[in-house]
Amino acid sequence: MDAVEIFTKLSTPAGRANPYPHYAQLHEIGEAITLAPGAVVVVGYDAISAILRDPGFRVSDEERFDLDFPGWRSNPVFVQAMDWILNLNGPKHARIRSLMARTFTARRVANLAPAISQMTDDLLDAMADRGADGSAVEFMHDFAYLLPVTVICELIGIPEPDREGFRPVARDLARVFEFDDIAHLPSINAAAVELLAYFTGLAALRRANPRDDLISDLLAVSDAADGRLSDAELLHNLTLLLVAGFETTTNLLGNGLQVILQQPHVGPAIADGSVPAAAFVEEVLRYDSPVQLTGRIGYETKIGEVLVSDGDAVTTLLGAGNRDPRRFADPDEFRPTRSDGGPLSFGGGAHFCIGAALARLEGSIAFPSLVRRFPRLSAAGEAVRRETFLLRGFDELPVTIT
Ligand code: HEM
Repeated sequence: MDAVEIFTKLSTPAGRANPYPHYAQLHEIGEAITLAPGAVVVVGYDAISAILRDPGFRVSDEERFDLDFPGWRSNPVFVQAMDWILNLNGPKHARIRSLMARTFTARRVANLAPAISQMTDDLLDAMADRGADGSAVEFMHDFAYLLPVTVICELIGIPEPDREGFRPVARDLARVFEFDDIAHLPSINAAAVELLAYFTGLAALRRANPRDDLISDLLAVSDAADGRLSDAELLHNLTLLLVAGFETTTNLLGNGLQVILQQPHVGPAIADGSVPAAAFVEEVLRYDSPVQLTGRIGYETKIGEVLVSDGDAVTTLLGAGNRDPRRFADPDEFRPTRSDGGPLSFGGGAHFCIGAALARLEGSIAFPSLVRRFPRLSAAGEAVRRETFLLRGFDELPVTIT
């Protein structure tokens, strides 16, 4: 089977539901493959890692958007997205990222641990009530979706009374990553406008009365650094934190739970600590990555045997790199005790995920709490995968807890 045939299969609903056999076939062809003129796909772990660390490979920025999607300026979501550090290269990326990193510190993340534990317990209490009579509880809706969005609200400093209304809007905006249907644009744009208006109001409040939260700190560093971060850049990157940190972590929780449901020895091992929670989370990230791919724009170079030209679209399949048999022993086996870890799921290099520590913390708190609280947790009916490919997760994961 050639690469085009494999990709055709990969893009069917069955292929999206389980891309891993197709990734294995791609690994047999090579670490990188020219799929069509100007389109290179990379599946090898080392090659992906090198590309993400090579500044010659750029992310798709404003200049590229002008070529690929000339109408973008009439869409509020893309006007914001063009300021997102995810879509910036060179000095502009470095400037905004370093200001964000000064506020999104390891200490701030670690300080969130008690709040995350409390939110986890509250959500588990609600699940316990709902499932006490043996009826099914929907884990994605009742837990995996609520925990990360509430944590981001806590991190940014969104007051509790505002959170209820905030979540569905955040969810609409997060669709931008799976933007494959123009029909979704109006609701994505509406969410972008609403969130920006909300953050503008909140920023005004916090400028007048700072608190111990990320938005106050961001305002302080940007004001102190004399306009090094414009108001638009600051507000737009707040919306990025939402979309980047929300469904990704939701999918980490869902994908991890599916492993627990399918491999009955894993839950008790997490509960009694013989599998450390952090090791479990790391292996879930590798085994079933919540983000399956990212992309770069190429320059004149070679990836393995494959020639890359200036402007080529280079897709790095993180989910395939995580199953590269040249890198991982028995890559299709879930082994939280493996010593050859190091998933590509948070990317690498200049754009390495700014929220990796937070996502890991959420997973490390949520999974042990869940399996200790509900030792009889089991699947109740069919798990429904999301149809999306870039973000890999579930729409529905019904469970019983008694
Ligand atoms: C399991 C959860 C998560 C996964 C799998 C994930 C994955 C990724 C990946 C692969 C990238 C790099 C994209 C690229 O190089 O093109 C990235 C970047 C980023 N992530 Fe995450 N992420 C997660 C959670 C979070 C959280 C919780 C936050 C924030 C609250 C966050 C914020 C960001 C931001 C702001 C960037 C852009 C960094 C830059 O471009 O410099 N992510 N993430």
